[in-house]
This record gives sequence, C-alpha cells and structure tokens, in this order.
Amino acid sequence: MAERVRKAVFPIGGLGTRFLPATKAMPKEMLPVVDKPLIQYAVEEALAAGIETFVFVTSRGKSLIEDHFDRGIELEATLERRAKTKELADIAATVLKPGQIVFTRQQEAMGLGHAVWCAREVVGDEPFAILLPDDLVLAKTPCLRQMVDARAATGGNLVAVIDVPRAHTNRYGILDIGKDDGRLAEVRGLVEKPEPAKAPSTLSIIGRYILEPAIFTHLARFERGAGNEIQLTDAMAKMIGTAPFHGLRFEGRRFDCGDKVGFVEANVAFALARADLRDQVRPAVESVLKTHS
Ligand code: UTP
Repeated sequence: MAERVRKAVFPIGGLGTRFLPATKAMPKEMLPVVDKPLIQYAVEEALAAGIETFVFVTSRGKSLIEDHFDRGIELEATLERRAKTKELADIAATVLKPGQIVFTRQQEAMGLGHAVWCAREVVGDEPFAILLPDDLVLAKTPCLRQMVDARAATGGNLVAVIDVPRAHTNRYGILDIGKDDGRLAEVRGLVEKPEPAKAPSTLSIIGRYILEPAIFTHLARFERGAGNEIQLTDAMAKMIGTAPFHGLRFEGRRFDCGDKVGFVEANVAFALARADLRDQVRPAVESVLKTHS
C-alpha cells in the first residue's frame, strides 16, 4: 500500500504579470472566482484529499494570503451580533487548525522547481502533493482526491494530465507514455513544449502532482532549464525509472486561471455550477452574448 500523502505544497512565489495591474499590490492567488479566492479553492481541494499540513511558498507582497487564512475575530463578532449565519460559515471555511499552515519564502523568483525546493525542510522524507492554485478544476470528486485514490494502487509519482489539441503541444509539458489503460498512463518521458510533429503524445501535465521526496535531491542541483529557471519538469524527468510514475486523466474540467481567458471562463463555469446562482447567471450570460456578438 502506498504511503499516505499528508502534506501539500502551494508554490505561490510567482509575480502574476499576466494580471497586472490587478496584481500590482494583490497576489494573483487572491483573485476571486465568483466569490472565493483561487488559493482557497486549492486549500479546500487539498483538505478533501486528506491533506493535514499546508505549506505555502510565498514571496514579497503575499502577506494578504496569510491574513486570509487567519481568524477574523472582529468580523466574526460583528456577524454573530447580526445573526449572519451563512456568512459566518463562509469565513469559518478559511480557518484551518492551529499549526496546520506553514509559510516559507522563496526569496527570489527562480522558477517553479526552486519554489518547491524551498519547502524541503517542511516536507521532509515523505511523498507530498503540489497544487498550483492557477489551475482550477471543476469536478464532482475533487482532482487531488481522485489522484490520492488512484495512487493507492500505483504508488510512486503521479501527475494529473489532460489531452490538448496536437497543434498546441508546443505550449505545454508533454508526456511520453508507455502502458495506457485510458485512465492511467505510464510515464516514460517528459518533453517540454515539443513541436506538434515531434510530440510523443498529446497528454499535458496540469498543476497537480504527487511526488516522492527524491525530487528534492534533483532540485538541489539548481540546474537551470527553459527561461533560465529551475524547472520542476526537469527534476521530475530524472525520477523516471526509479519509482512508478503515472499520468492520471482525471474526471472534470480544468481552467487555466493564470490566463485572462481561462479566468473569465472559470468564473462563468463556476457560477453556472452553483445552485444558488445558476438561474440568474444563465440568462445574464446569454444576454451579454446576444448584445456583444
Ligand atoms: P507562472 O508561470 O504562471 O508565473 O507560474 P507567474 O509569475 O505566477 O505568472 P505570470 O506568468 O507572470 O502571469 C506557475 C506557478 O509557479 C509558481 C507561481 O506562483 C504559479 O503558481 N512560481 C513560479 C513560483 O512559486 N516561483 C517562481 O519562481 C515561479
């Protein structure tokens, strides 16, 4: 049986330049989809997967995130006085048990791999999850839960994957796969942004990973890859063949909220998925489409 995944790392050291000016003073991860910040969706997904320790790798200017997950004593008292039970429940969902959240800093934005390496002391010698809050997944069973369940049978390293159009393989990290049962594919290689004709498959990794702690040994070499950054993909590639490594085609839809179009799409999709909003949002979207097309 695979060792339990108890810790999750949230690498949130990036600058979020694609969302300027919104992200000038506010972290990208605090952008709300409908009424909840991206980072909270990621934390709730991790909680649903049984995660007990939440490791945030932040950078300068991200302290708002720390406040978001703290108690709001005055706000709670005011809401209580006004008998606002729904709102009280909403803010209660942002508070984890004392000691469950750990913040560490990536002092310089040297890439995603470097951000993950900054969490090494907190993670220690056990398998752990990584969630990029930019990637939002709308699914009946939360994506990381599906991964933890799938990994109970495979063990080792597991990444969430989606099928992308062949013409777009040069935008993503693509898997070279071996045995494939249509849901789980054995990872034989990882190719960063291959040209469509050369892509070994059309399976692209999204921002959900469960990795063995051996990743830290590879990251510690500080090898620079694409964009002169320390790339997580390069370190993952070094683990192929040393432990089981699979890609999981999860059930659900992924939205790239690090991109403006994906972010707008996510807002519409998440609003339409909500029973309390669906009936008002659908005609509103239809009316906008009629007026602006
Ligand atoms: P992105 O490539 O989306 O970069 O990072 P970014 O800086 O967040 O956003 P843009 O492109 O400037 O708009 C993917 C993930 O890796 C994290 C980011 O926070 C995001 O979750 N990251 C990236 C780090 O934590 N540190 C880094 O040095 C780079």
